[in-house]
Amino acid sequence: MNITLKIKRYQPEEDRESRFQDFKVPIEPTDRLLDALMFVKRNLDGTLCFRKSCAHGVCGSDAMTINGVERLACKTLVQDVAEKEDAVVTIEPLRSLPVQRDLMVDYTHFFETYRIVKPFLIPVQKTKRGENIQTPEQRKKFDDPTKCILCASCYAACPVVAEKDPEFIGPAAVVQAARFVFDSRDEGIGPRLEVLDDPHGVWPCENHFNCTRVCPRGIKVTKNINLVKRTIKDFKEQSD
Ligand code: SF4
Ligand code: FES
Repeated sequence: MNITLKIKRYQPEEDRESRFQDFKVPIEPTDRLLDALMFVKRNLDGTLCFRKSCAHGVCGSDAMTINGVERLACKTLVQDVAEKEDAVVTIEPLRSLPVQRDLMVDYTHFFETYRIVKPFLIPVQKTKRGENIQTPEQRKKFDDPTKCILCASCYAACPVVAEKDPEFIGPAAVVQAARFVFDSRDEGIGPRLEVLDDPHGVWPCENHFNCTRVCPRGIKVTKNINLVKRTIKDFKEQSD
């Protein structure tokens, strides 16, 4: 089949504003959208810029807005977004992140919000020797957030970040915090309270569920945010 990729482009040396450019691509319905982009890059316009690495939904680098929805290009089949011959598929960079070039966005602020939640284990018993044993039930408590690949799709889909509070740390940062807050080997919420219990921490979330809908890893993002909110409340009540 043939499809048209309508790609939002911005080349800082030439463009004062972003513009759309159409590319006609011969492709199989079962190919991935990443294959269509690679066809453009290799055969039609080598200046087209986008990120990709693993091509298997693991690295999170090819998140983009496809027909208005945040998706990984490598996990999106052509037949899922182009139902018939000559269909037009619109591809834009992620929202709420500054565009560097074409589909490439600047993740600096996104990864700053990731780092400030302390995404590492803060052990409870620093002086204890030997293994810190965990039951399967305890391990299960943070299984969901371990799947995050930091693709930023949830952040880009969040209406609170886009329209109300650009300083909101965003869903991905809370998911990363949840990974450790719910880990029985971690000191939990205490050391992260300054960031999470901030007016721009977890509280701006209004349960729109856009993050959960777009997450390519199927993480229950909103549920994790609400669990972190509840954990903060419990922690503060116990500390009073
Ligand atoms: S929670 Fe899902 S959508 Fe958000 S960064 Fe992680 S993998 Fe991507
Ligand atoms: S290229 Fe790695 S997730 Fe798509």
